[in-house]
Amino acid sequence: MLMQEERPAQADTSVILTVRNLESYYGPIMAIRGVSLEVREGQIVSVLGANGAGKTTLLKTISGVMDPEKGEILYQGRDIAGFDPDKIVRMGIVHVPEGREVFPLLTVEENLKMGAYVRSDADGIRQDQEMVYSYFPILAERRRQAAGTLSGGQQQMLAIGRGLMARPKLMLLDEPSLGLSPRLVKEIFTIIRRLNREQGVTMMLVEQNAKVALEVADYGYVMELGRMVMANDARRLMESKDVQEFYLGVQQETQRGQKRWKQKKTWR
Ligand SMILES: Nc1ncnc2c1ncn2[C@@H]1O[C@H](COP(=O)(O)OP(=O)(O)O)[C@@H](O)[C@H]1O
Ligand SMILES: [Mg+2]
Repeated sequence: MLMQEERPAQADTSVILTVRNLESYYGPIMAIRGVSLEVREGQIVSVLGANGAGKTTLLKTISGVMDPEKGEILYQGRDIAGFDPDKIVRMGIVHVPEGREVFPLLTVEENLKMGAYVRSDADGIRQDQEMVYSYFPILAERRRQAAGTLSGGQQQMLAIGRGLMARPKLMLLDEPSLGLSPRLVKEIFTIIRRLNREQGVTMMLVEQNAKVALEVADYGYVMELGRMVMANDARRLMESKDVQEFYLGVQQETQRGQKRWKQKKTWR
């Protein structure tokens, strides 16, 4: 009772997602080794990590695609660990998977409609479709085209657009920059930021591309071998020596050769 009164009112209400000591396995392989993190409402939170760090597993566990072995996933104060993916979407969490995974034989418009499968408000769905087209005009132009014929960048836009059709409060984005040109990466991250600011969608994204991920984020985490090894404001993380060396490829003046080697080892 006293504790509650003493706690600053905003500190708790503004946290939309809290992950505590999460562990997930593939058979005997422990891919997530006790991960904890927090996402505040209205923010963009980036989780950085090299290939195999456990980023995808983390998102799959939050969105219910995988069940955790241990730990808590508190969404708006409720433990959703182990809930069906369907139920989690209905509660407002949408997962935009790694590699986009659009339905290649369906048209752009049909893909968007699939994203709204949890809804029945026809007018709202139509409005949101127009909202998606306003952020991604190229999708409007291609609305009758099969999604499989779109470029990688357009498919990423469609995957995000399809996710928006569920009216998420929290969007989980798995490597939205993967395989895209620097120009397209910039374009997509600009739109992610606009969606966050203008539509009020809280974003949690996981990325190997540390630079763009930190530029767009309010807060950041670094994951290595299934564990969180760093957490800080995005600006601070960007200034951190370790992040600069290992994730941003910035060379320090001293011990150049050794650090170049370390960086390579971490990345590949
Ligand atoms: N389907 C799977 N079966 C077994 N091991 C897996 C599977 N998917 C991922 N892993 C392992 O789990 C760890 C984390 O993988 P993942 O979450 O995909 O990392 P990231 O998304 O950061 O590249 C890696 O060691 C990976 O080899
Ligand atoms: Mg991955």
